[in-house]
Amino acid sequence: MALKHDDSKFSPTTHATAVIGSGTLGSRIALMLASSGGEVRLYDLNADQLEVARRYVEAELPRVVAGRPGTLPGRLVLSRTVQAAVADTWMVVEAIPERLDPKRKMFADLDRLAPEDAILASNSSSYPTSQFIDAVSHPGRVANTHYYSPPEVNVVEVMSCGKTTEEVIARLFERLPAYGFQPFHVLKESVGFIFNRIWAAIKSESLAVVAEGVSTPQVVDQLFQSVLGSLGPFRRMDKVGLDVVLGIEEHYAAVRPGIPAEPRQLLKQYIEQGHLGIKSGKGFYSDYEEKATTR
Ligand SMILES: NC(=O)c1ccc[n+]([C@@H]2O[C@H](COP(=O)([O-])OP(=O)(O)OC[C@H]3O[C@@H](n4cnc5c(N)ncnc54)[C@H](O)[C@@H]3O)[C@@H](O)[C@H]2O)c1
Repeated sequence: MALKHDDSKFSPTTHATAVIGSGTLGSRIALMLASSGGEVRLYDLNADQLEVARRYVEAELPRVVAGRPGTLPGRLVLSRTVQAAVADTWMVVEAIPERLDPKRKMFADLDRLAPEDAILASNSSSYPTSQFIDAVSHPGRVANTHYYSPPEVNVVEVMSCGKTTEEVIARLFERLPAYGFQPFHVLKESVGFIFNRIWAAIKSESLAVVAEGVSTPQVVDQLFQSVLGSLGPFRRMDKVGLDVVLGIEEHYAAVRPGIPAEPRQLLKQYIEQGHLGIKSGKGFYSDYEEKATTR
């Protein structure tokens, strides 16, 4: 389907965006989309979470804008319905939980409610969009845009749903840098994105080392810091959310035979105690109480 927008007239200040789901990633994506002077609408089923996201965006926006010379703070609008969120947008980013049925239903709604020239993008980490867009009448406008952890990591991997038009991919590459993102093209549909697939191997072996009693999360992270000068895998998993990590690992295990169960069992032990990482105040580490209530 041809898009109607004329790109010479594109500006983040005149073209609104929407984010559906205001959790860990949705709130961060909304923050970046609001950092170029434009309007971003945020919708979530959970009104309390929407309020947490609003506080997070308002607290972080001045710092993000200050770090990007020439940009102005935009406007965050909390929407009460999906319909209100997506009206007159050029791009809608879906960031609801990593489960197929809700995503399938959401994409059917987005297809019906969003402007016909809006790009419908999923932030799903482990499901290629082709697996949940059966009810979408124009799959040419659907893509995976996989964000990492903005505003600290502003990489976005862009992947076709198999039917995404070249124009839609080109448009994402033209426009996402205007919001401070650096896009990378995933050349074919894949279960897992380029960096995620490599990260999955690191994550799984780190969990195995701890599950076998060979080391502790703290020591593994210290080694990472000393050897690679980078944040360790357990701190990173706490940041992502252990329930989200488990969902991704379960999905990989379902599609790739031979993945050992011990790393997932270790994650389940933490989750059963309500330790989900930063968002619940505790994960592999226990020093997040303050962050959980302010994010
Ligand atoms: N957490 C990460 O670091 C990370 C990184 C990359 C991609 N992702 C992907 O992003 C997506 C969201 O992950 P997350 O970690 O932000 O999850 P999250 O659980 O933190 O947030 C999901 C939000 O969606 C809301 N929600 C649930 N059903 C909804 C619906 N039908 N309509 C509107 N809102 C709804 C929930 O209330 C919640 O606030 C997943 O697909 C995940 O794979 C996550």
